Amino acid sequence: MLILLDTAKIDLIEKANEILPLDGVTTNPSLIVKEKTAFITLLQEIRRIIGTEKMLHVQVISKKAEEIVEEAMYLNKVIGGNLYIKVPVIPQGIKAMKIIKEKGLKITATAIFTPQQAVLAAKAGANFVAPYVNRLDNISANGINVVAEIAKIYNMFSIKTKILAASFKNIQQVHDACLAGAHGVTVPYDLANLLVHHPLTEESVEKFISDWEDFYGKGKLTKDMK
Ligand code: E4P
Repeated sequence: MLILLDTAKIDLIEKANEILPLDGVTTNPSLIVKEKTAFITLLQEIRRIIGTEKMLHVQVISKKAEEIVEEAMYLNKVIGGNLYIKVPVIPQGIKAMKIIKEKGLKITATAIFTPQQAVLAAKAGANFVAPYVNRLDNISANGINVVAEIAKIYNMFSIKTKILAASFKNIQQVHDACLAGAHGVTVPYDLANLLVHHPLTEESVEKFISDWEDFYGKGKLTKDMK
């Protein structure tokens, strides 16, 4: 199960990457522009923080296949590392995916809202497809069901493309996407932190420490014991 962070905020990526077992970072144009800074410098900084092995997913802007391919080649040259080119699943995007694949670059087909888009993207060479769970839920279209149907079709036909479920607004959606067969999820920083949080865990830890300190004394750790 892959867990990625869906943000372009440097300080949040730094904090999350230090603590959580992250597999990478996803960005999109809307997240990038919120940072109000130079695009490539920002991505190179994200790459520096997460290293060259973790995945970085970066989206192209053009709606023409030839330009999408040019963007892909440029991004690969200037960012490098374990890079995935995010290509929207529009007709020109599908055409571009076939060419980008031939050039040996990795692809995440994005803005997926139907299982058949996911099938086409897989056939065009996408390594990942990113179905947008919350955006589907917001139009009463059941995002989790779309994830489940993609997983079912991929399993039926032994399609190797992975599902990177995206667009989450709560932990239940993340949990349901995992159970529906997503290979990975990309979540905003706040949700990534909520994944580890439970009040009973905190309460239990506090009780263990207070029991311990009542007998051995405040601040004593196991390494101080004989
Ligand atoms: C994923 O690839 C998208 O960047 C992202 O998850 C969309 O999330 P949103 O619907 O919260 O904008």
